[in-house]
Amino acid sequence: MKLFEKLKDIDKAAIKEIVETPSWDALEQVKIKYLGRKGIMQDAIKNIKSVSKKDKPKVGQLINELKNKFTSLIKEKEQSFIDSERSMFGNKDITLPGVKKEIGHNHPLIKTIDEIIDIFVRMGFKSVDAPEVETEFYNFEALNIPKDHPSRETFHTFYVENGMLLRSQTSTAQIRIMEKEKPPLQIIHAGKVYRPDAVDASHSFMFYQIEGFMVDEGIVFSDLKGVLEKFAKEYFGEEVKMRFRPHYFPFTEPSAEIDISCFICGAKGCRVCSHKGWLEVLGAGMINPKVFDAVKYDSRKYTGFAFGMGIDRICMLKYGIDNIRLFYENDVRFLKQF
Ligand code: PHE
Repeated sequence: MKLFEKLKDIDKAAIKEIVETPSWDALEQVKIKYLGRKGIMQDAIKNIKSVSKKDKPKVGQLINELKNKFTSLIKEKEQSFIDSERSMFGNKDITLPGVKKEIGHNHPLIKTIDEIIDIFVRMGFKSVDAPEVETEFYNFEALNIPKDHPSRETFHTFYVENGMLLRSQTSTAQIRIMEKEKPPLQIIHAGKVYRPDAVDASHSFMFYQIEGFMVDEGIVFSDLKGVLEKFAKEYFGEEVKMRFRPHYFPFTEPSAEIDISCFICGAKGCRVCSHKGWLEVLGAGMINPKVFDAVKYDSRKYTGFAFGMGIDRICMLKYGIDNIRLFYENDVRFLKQF
């Protein structure tokens, strides 16, 4: 009767284990342990031969009963797992395929900024941050645009409280950095600027600019040309040509507007370049000594260049986007394409 007694113990142990199993995995292990091919019950069947002839039917019957009992207990346990998962998931059918969440990506403007900054960083420029809410000093005075200066009109500005304003150009970063740091400087800064322009296909009250500047002893105009040419070729293509046109900015002297040959039509003339073969992409010049005065740099010792470009326009040119508003409407059908 040894096996018979042993089966009673197995019965107790199995019931306890099945009832107390905490998880699907553990239950699977219990199932294998008792009912598997090399499990305890299979073992008992093999041991039947050691039982006396008269007890054999009794033991055999007990083995069958236990197997059936364990099987149905395991089924019950499985059902209890299913039930508790159901209630946890609010009776939803968790076996249905899920709703796939789409992974986002950078906005085309941010991509453009990252690509451009990357080119300048490789040339040794340091990328910095600068505030968007500014004082008149940083947006104007220190940049040689005093109160009654007619050019202040060009930089129409949103004024907020306490004499603060939303900067209308990233040139503010020149002052912010020069005030804090000493030459030699090689700085690049990207950020938002604000102008109360009427919104149309090519104007927005908020857009992005990238500002770059370099200050040291002996910086000359050809350094500016060299840096910008390197940038233009890397970003727009090797075959791109540049054209410097004289211009006026209060904070640079001399100043230039810079065009690149249209990379869409190869300067032959197309809709994008208004059949001129040239695209205006940058403003630049040698930093005006008056700006150095404002940040207390010795303007007899140091020279430097600065440049600024509108990112929205560059991004529009690059991807053939004909409406600036698309950047700010957050329409996924548009954004998805980049
Ligand atoms: N800040 C000028 C603008 O917004 C661009 C510029 C930057 C020009 C630096 C010269 C030097 O139009």
